[in-house]
Amino acid sequence: MDVKTLAVVGAGQMGAGIAQVAAQSGVSVVLVDVNPDLVQKGLSGIRAQLDRAVSKGKLKADEAQATVARIKGGGSAQDAAQADFAVEAVTENEAVKKKVFQDLARALRPDAVLATNTSSIPITRIAASVDRPERVIGMHFMNPVPVMQLVEIIRGAQTSDATYAATRALAEKMGKTTVLSKDMPGFIVNRILIPMLNEACFALQEGLASAEDIDTAMKLGTNVPMGPLTLADFIGLDTCLSIAEVLHKGLGDDKYRPAPLLRQYVDAGWLGKKTKRGFYAY
Ligand code: CAA
Repeated sequence: MDVKTLAVVGAGQMGAGIAQVAAQSGVSVVLVDVNPDLVQKGLSGIRAQLDRAVSKGKLKADEAQATVARIKGGGSAQDAAQADFAVEAVTENEAVKKKVFQDLARALRPDAVLATNTSSIPITRIAASVDRPERVIGMHFMNPVPVMQLVEIIRGAQTSDATYAATRALAEKMGKTTVLSKDMPGFIVNRILIPMLNEACFALQEGLASAEDIDTAMKLGTNVPMGPLTLADFIGLDTCLSIAEVLHKGLGDDKYRPAPLLRQYVDAGWLGKKTKRGFYAY
């Protein structure tokens, strides 16, 4: 399937990033959100990103203009009825996601692929909430979407080969490299990343070293672009905690238990960069 029109549902940071990269690869995009302010914010954020790329000489002005022209805003799945592929990137709430999938399944063609950018909800469970679950798949982008090379593709128990092939082709058209994961808690990246970030929280909690030294040690000692506590702030401590809880519950092993310090920061509303305070002040 050659995707001509992509519906992106959810105009937050991830949805806007997905819309931008798809439009840059020549796909027409409908960016849908029930909150019109978020659609406007998403569209203006994309314009600002593209303008920055133009001013740095990394993108031609006419290409930036053409990219912007390929993205339309919308308020409901109905506005994306002509899409042949949809990626859902709404809040990590199972009931909300299932409702979005049911709306998409009704509005789009019966053979349209319905993908979710979830980082933690089982694809098989989301798929079971719509008819033709074989067209449902996980398509997990990394943040920030325009910069990060990877897309994890997750096959639910009923995902068809055709759905997988279409998803892989779209990700590759968007310039991404794909990996294939089974539908297990955390998939590949978060199964390995979140326990590492959680361990950094335990190390800080136990007074092993300061936050700065933990991050410097890992950044310079293992050549990663950000230390684990900075990365946790960047991802959002609430997101890290909720994925840690999914791993703990889903895999049933206490080695995945969230660090009490992580939970306390979330309770305090210190969620990282987005609230201007986490392990660091922003
Ligand atoms: N959107 C678009 N471009 C961005 C960007 C954004 N949000 N943030 C940074 N960039 C671009 C910059 O424009 C810059 O581009 P050029 O080199 O072309 O000028 C480039 O990225 C580097 O940016 P900076 O120099 O400002 O800063 P940096 O070198 O620290 O890079 C970073 C920023 C790319 C975010 C880097 O720090 C990094 O790779 N961090 C780790 C990110 C990561 O691990 N993400 C995965 C999180 S896990 C996840 O997403 C899964 C989940 O489910 C939780």
